[in-house]
Amino acid sequence: MDAFVINGGKRLRGTVRVHGAKNAALPQLAAALLTDQPVKLSDVPDLEDIRNMTKLLDELGCEVEHDPAASSVTVHSTDDSKCKARYDIVRKMRASVCVLGPLLARRGKAQVSMPGGCNIGDRPVDLHMRGLRALGAKVHLDSGYIVAELPESGRLTGARVFLGGPFGSTVLGTINVMSAAALAKGRTIIESAACEPEVEDMANLLSAMGANVTGAGTPRVIIEGVDQLHGAKHKVIPDRIEAGTYVAAAAITNGQITIENFPTDALTAVLDRFEYTGVEIEPVKPASGAGPSPTRKRGTRKKNNQGTLDDDRMRQTVRVASTRRLEPTQIFTQPHPGFPTDLQAQIMALLCLADGNSMITEKIFPDRFLHVAELLRMGANLVRNGPTVLVSGVRELIGAQVMASDLRASAGLILAGLAARGTTTVSRIYHVDRGYEKMELSLQKLGADVERVNQPEKQ
Ligand code: EPZ
Repeated sequence: MDAFVINGGKRLRGTVRVHGAKNAALPQLAAALLTDQPVKLSDVPDLEDIRNMTKLLDELGCEVEHDPAASSVTVHSTDDSKCKARYDIVRKMRASVCVLGPLLARRGKAQVSMPGGCNIGDRPVDLHMRGLRALGAKVHLDSGYIVAELPESGRLTGARVFLGGPFGSTVLGTINVMSAAALAKGRTIIESAACEPEVEDMANLLSAMGANVTGAGTPRVIIEGVDQLHGAKHKVIPDRIEAGTYVAAAAITNGQITIENFPTDALTAVLDRFEYTGVEIEPVKPASGAGPSPTRKRGTRKKNNQGTLDDDRMRQTVRVASTRRLEPTQIFTQPHPGFPTDLQAQIMALLCLADGNSMITEKIFPDRFLHVAELLRMGANLVRNGPTVLVSGVRELIGAQVMASDLRASAGLILAGLAARGTTTVSRIYHVDRGYEKMELSLQKLGADVERVNQPEKQ
């Protein structure tokens, strides 16, 4: 199994480009099941999760052309008879659940393995099922599979669907219902829809395919169903979590880096917290009319056809610098536009070295803290109480052998390793490969001393 060996203490300098967003691209690939014409996505990152999704689509009767060098994937759904997403694939990648809505709406039936919990906690799919039932689908569980079928009428019917749950809305649930509703008869109104940028980007793809979606990016999404969708070309939005991770990498090493393809508009809460701690983030080429700081609000915003994201501020170039010890702060992870749970481990690593006490409360996945025990091994001062971790800043972290447990926890440990004194070995790096394209190459380009090694698993 691969591991990263990191010799910490190098200040990062140079330029890095943010890849397309994994969490936007995955459901968009599944959306190709909604039409019999090819859907071509560009700026698709070359990741293990993307390869898993293309494998699943291949099994579901699609012709898939994946060109990693051009960062493009074309999916052409040609055999409508296949409706089953096997346990072996769903188990590896929960995002496979987003084939549920498209399979049901276009092929009339979906049989998708029920995803289990994972390292970040329980991951129920009750809201996905509730949403599809509201559209008239017959949904039941059979031998570990979600089985969804069209009603007697042979078509889903638009309805008012409430998708709020105990921890807010659901991102992939909103996407599943939105894509199924695109082919339903009549109007669907999703109330308490997830507002994440990935939902809005999905709506943009659906619109390019001929769907009629408005309000995506807000808690109320309205879909007027159409009889059929057609092929489309679409460029995936930049990955806000990868972008935030590189900001943290510059900050934790007191570095100065330039980040291209930076989705400022999707990172408002994150930039607010980074700036509060003392990290400087300035656009290199401000978009016309933009103020000097990417976090500063503008009077007018150019809206794309869906609504909330400002196209100019989704692909900026920014310079990030951190020259002094950082201020401590409080973080509450929240649904978008709040601070994202997918950057919680990374900001924790950073706050381990802040000048005082910080508090991090996880409000989306209350058990997403497997990185805490590993950071303790590196000399961090952390006390967990339920969904909250008190982070008392220390003068330095010390290199150690640590184990990655999930994608974002791995990123947090790598950041800690970049700042630590001595050598840190982060094992089970396959987790990071699921969501960051060749992260070691990006970090090496920035001057980090990080190497990928093959490490035999010890008994
Ligand atoms: C997406 O997962 C992302 N994955 C996750 O990123 C991200 O952490 C999460 O959204 C929250 O932002 C992809 O986009 C592929 P949710 P998703 O349904 O959609 C509860 C990463 O590291 N819930 O929005 O599966 C749930 O338990 C991954 O890239 C229900 O109660 O997450 C959680 O507390 C990890 N019932 C909250 O809602 C449901 O039916 C939000 O989950 C569904 C969810």
